[in-house]
Amino acid sequence: MAIISSKQPDPQQPDDEPQKPKQKPKQKPEPQTTPSQKNQLLETAARPDEVSRNEDGIRPQSLDDYIGQKALKEVLQIAIQAAQSRNEPLDHLLLYGPPGLGKTTMALILAQEMKVDCKITTAPALERPRDIAGLLVNAKAGDILFIDEIHRLSRVTEEILYPAMEDARLDITIGKGQSARTRSIPLQPFTLVGATTKVGALTSPLRDRFGLIQRLRFYELDELTSIILRTATVLKTEIKEPGAMEIARRARGTPRIANRLLKRVRDYVQVKASGPITEQIAGEALELFNVDPCGLDWTDRRLLSVMIENFNGGPVGLDTMAAATGEDAQTIEEVYEPYLLQIGYLQRTPRGRIATPAAWRHLGYEMPEKPTLVTLSSINDDNDQLSLM
Ligand code: ADE
Repeated sequence: MAIISSKQPDPQQPDDEPQKPKQKPKQKPEPQTTPSQKNQLLETAARPDEVSRNEDGIRPQSLDDYIGQKALKEVLQIAIQAAQSRNEPLDHLLLYGPPGLGKTTMALILAQEMKVDCKITTAPALERPRDIAGLLVNAKAGDILFIDEIHRLSRVTEEILYPAMEDARLDITIGKGQSARTRSIPLQPFTLVGATTKVGALTSPLRDRFGLIQRLRFYELDELTSIILRTATVLKTEIKEPGAMEIARRARGTPRIANRLLKRVRDYVQVKASGPITEQIAGEALELFNVDPCGLDWTDRRLLSVMIENFNGGPVGLDTMAAATGEDAQTIEEVYEPYLLQIGYLQRTPRGRIATPAAWRHLGYEMPEKPTLVTLSSINDDNDQLSLM
């Protein structure tokens, strides 16, 4: 499958607030364009490197092979069957959730199931109109265009996508100022699959153009164990089920992490041990790689310990945390926090982040005694004799 790599410089962090709805181009588009204009568009289109990446063949290739996300699979199975029986492309699909849960994998599977091509790109690589225009003009009927980090689309690219998604039409402005004219190019109907870790950062006009909006959730222990066993088979690595479970426990509910840890344990066995991956070997290896029994790595533990040691457990703002730890605020918010929230080690409040008592305990800190506020009602509860009733 063709994957289009992004070679853009680091994008700006998007605002947390959803942006204002975009305005449509003022000029009414003319219906058609000439073949030479179309060719010109194709020529000026960005031609990002196409690289082939099969990730050692460990990505599942069909919905049947895909473990977990039961509800999502059911929804997609129905959408696929319905679209196929009508001989239409799939509806546009927005997938959201923390990184590493299988959004790209799902887009590739959809393409396999629909027997179409999938072009993969990322929003920061689509800065100029011609970047997206090239992809749209070249898409064949039913093809899937996967845009990762879709909340980072530039305004101009997003505006090009509106008519493309709604009416399979590319509206482009040729020239500048007084001489500017809008041309409209018919496109083949395609399916846009957008992926984001921040669904709230999408503008509502863009969000509203997706027919399906689906969340990916963290994986259960048994699902991750099955994924690790499956990947081990693909990698021809011998593993015992308790060994897979030990890796799964430390994989933060995330298949990408599970497969990464499996590869590290496989290295460890090859160099330091022998035989299959057992529970004990997996535990030893992952301790060595600084992944604790809850799956927290060095950065997770540092984030929590800075909150506890420097801010008495919080509340502390995201930017303050970023400054205090030297981590990027967006990375903290999108990569580290979701799992810490999920396992109940972190709370987000309007006043900032708070490390929970479970986090204090896990890191071996003793929580300070709270000063007891003596109220009349507490005296009443404790001492009937003082009751005013
Ligand atoms: N590898 C990564 N994610 C997977 C999944 N959900 N099912 C099977 N194999 C996987």
